[in-house]
Amino acid sequence: MYTLALETSCDETSVAVIEDGRRILSNIISTQVPIHRKFGGVVPEIASRQHIEYVMPVVKEALEEAEITLNDVDHIGVTYGPGLVGALLVGVATAKALSFAADKPLVGVNHMEGHIFANFLSHTELEPPFLALVVSGGHTQLVKVLGYNRFELMGQTRDDAAGEAFDKIARVMGYPYPGGPQIDKLAALGNADAVVFPKALHERNNFEFSFSGLKSAVLNYLHTQEQRGETYSPEDVAASFQKTVVETLVEKTVNAAELSGLRTVVLAGGVAANHGLTQAMETVCKEKGYTFYKPEPILCTDNGAMIGCRAYYMAQDGRFADMTLNAKPALSLTGTET
Ligand code: KG4
Ligand code: ZN
Repeated sequence: MYTLALETSCDETSVAVIEDGRRILSNIISTQVPIHRKFGGVVPEIASRQHIEYVMPVVKEALEEAEITLNDVDHIGVTYGPGLVGALLVGVATAKALSFAADKPLVGVNHMEGHIFANFLSHTELEPPFLALVVSGGHTQLVKVLGYNRFELMGQTRDDAAGEAFDKIARVMGYPYPGGPQIDKLAALGNADAVVFPKALHERNNFEFSFSGLKSAVLNYLHTQEQRGETYSPEDVAASFQKTVVETLVEKTVNAAELSGLRTVVLAGGVAANHGLTQAMETVCKEKGYTFYKPEPILCTDNGAMIGCRAYYMAQDGRFADMTLNAKPALSLTGTET
């Protein structure tokens, strides 16, 4: 069974072909990062235009690399939310056109569920149930994955996503977009106890997150140092900030695993590529006797393959969309459905 999958929710135009749900035949990612970099972040209007220009060439390349034609495809998956509305619309309109033209069933995929499903591509033995921590540029969520089509949201961020905090701090420190990987590199060289930053909502059994207070505390620290004419060590600030984020994420994940009884923990989303987070999560899971998984780096950030994997399991369950499928920028986890 072949799944063709399109992802255009933010700043990557990506199309993949997946065989039988878990085997990647192609995963073409055309990134717009260098284009948005000069603006310090993603410009939605530019993102949409780039998607329009690149989506069909990327579809063609994905099919060619997989050595199949559109006729061989069994169904077409596409991200319809959450994300930037104009960017999502390009993928949705393209997938609908392909579905109509080639008479192939359409599957509308939730981007966050796609991030979780990246783990099924990297780890063939992985099966639900497990606990997922999804940390991306737009979201931070703790999700109980009880079956391939059964999710329960335990908590999410009230304000900034983890990745957003990484990006904003890096920007103020003068590093190019996206700043997460840069902070990760600096943190490895710094003293994580140099500056104490506050943690929010750290009471037991509270699975909500809040990173805006931490972000403001770091920005205040940087401005105060500047105003006093004092220098600061970017490595120490990065390490201290990252430690605060990582400790919060790890503490809440362990608490959620204990409460839910789930003994397999998976990381997902762009911030899953963070070395400090991965190391801390690996260590704590070993201590607690939990099994720990994360996707390989290329499948952590946005890609079509993860959307294809999710679409396959939805198709297996008969969850097809029709021509009324529309972009839903604020789509939440399809979650509680069984
Ligand atoms: O999942 P993703 O590709 O896009 C969204 O769906 O948002 O995540 C992108 C986010 C960005 O905020 C980026 O800075 C962050 O993931 N990121 C990292 C690392 N690599 C990417 N954050 C921290 N450490 C990293 N190594
Ligand atoms: Zn994403």
